[in-house]
Amino acid sequence: MFKETCEVLENKTVAPDHFLLKLSSKKIGKAALPGQFVQILCSGDSLDPLLPRPFSFLEASPTSFSLLYHVVGQGTELMAKFKKGDKVHVLGPLGKGFTLRRKTEDGRGKRLLVGGGVGIPPLYHLAKDLVRTKEVKKSDIHVFLGARNKSLLLCEKDFLKLGVQLHLATDDGSKGHKGYVTQVLVKFLKSSIFHLPSSLIHSCGPTPMLKAVSLVASEFGAPNEVSVEVPMACGFGACLGCALKVKGETPGSHRFAIACTEGPVFEGSKILWD
Ligand code: FES
Repeated sequence: MFKETCEVLENKTVAPDHFLLKLSSKKIGKAALPGQFVQILCSGDSLDPLLPRPFSFLEASPTSFSLLYHVVGQGTELMAKFKKGDKVHVLGPLGKGFTLRRKTEDGRGKRLLVGGGVGIPPLYHLAKDLVRTKEVKKSDIHVFLGARNKSLLLCEKDFLKLGVQLHLATDDGSKGHKGYVTQVLVKFLKSSIFHLPSSLIHSCGPTPMLKAVSLVASEFGAPNEVSVEVPMACGFGACLGCALKVKGETPGSHRFAIACTEGPVFEGSKILWD
């Protein structure tokens, strides 16, 4: 984990109320893994808001990294005003990200990435890494994106450029399947002939979507990992504000996991959703 003062290289609108922020970085970008996150002090050198905000990586390189954020409150409203050349205090990379390398019994298996809202950017980071490292063939990477309407299907063009298989769903039917992205996932799983236990479903997005994906995965016997969205204050295990109820060691028991250090990526089957 590094503390860096990063320079704003770009901060532009990419969808209604959604911005892409690119920051210079000597250390964080180099160390960042898909599914990890940074804490950004949106207030610059002032104290309001006092607490930093967590954001997943969209892309990372040895000299910079990018985030895609939704303007939803005081912190992100301040971020939307960042200009090229501004200095931003950042802590990261934090947390445990997605599984990248994976040995399977038959040496095969697909990666299914299911995302909605600002849960989509870390999945793009993951897809890019899987393609770059040739961990999985492009034809075996299936990305399922869900949004309210087509203008909110974040990173659609970026995924297309990567050459992975794209499946879309919108609530209003303006693009792809009309309905939930999990319906598209179920249809795909039913109609596909491949070894599910060798595959891995990664999901990131709103909690109801994560819960639905996790249930579908267990129904089909596919391993699944989810990146949870929980409120985070410190981001490194000090405040205990991000406790998440998970299954305990013995059947029927539970414990509280610290999402910012044990996660934000967890095995979906370990989470107690209700
Ligand atoms: Fe403080 Fe997780 S955000 S312990």
